[in-house]
Amino acid sequence: MRTWRQARAELVRVTFTDQLGHSVSIDHPPECSLMEAAVENEITGIEAQCYGAAVCGTCHVYVGPQWLEAAGEKSEWEQAMLDALPLARAESRLSCQIVLSDRIDGAGFILPERQESLE
Ligand code: FES
Repeated sequence: MRTWRQARAELVRVTFTDQLGHSVSIDHPPECSLMEAAVENEITGIEAQCYGAAVCGTCHVYVGPQWLEAAGEKSEWEQAMLDALPLARAESRLSCQIVLSDRIDGAGFILPERQESLE
């Protein structure tokens, strides 16, 4: 049986910062997407209209530069979706395509000015 301390140690901490500089950190079990963790923690600014089907674009985040590699590779499909988002930049990702794992424990993500749906 795991102790509370062991369970707490397995959580992944990520921080979301909005365009006004307000930050919210969450601790969430791994092995889900960053988007799912954000939605479950009611992060304002992650709409996730398609809830992970990678077709809406409303889970857009900017990845902190030091975390780009740890966030994993973008698929061609994800890049095509990002190319269609007006506010996308080189460091943009769809948070539904980022796996929450210890690789990104401590990572920071910036929320775009607004989410724009591609559906
Ligand atoms: S939740 Fe729709 S693209 Fe990520």
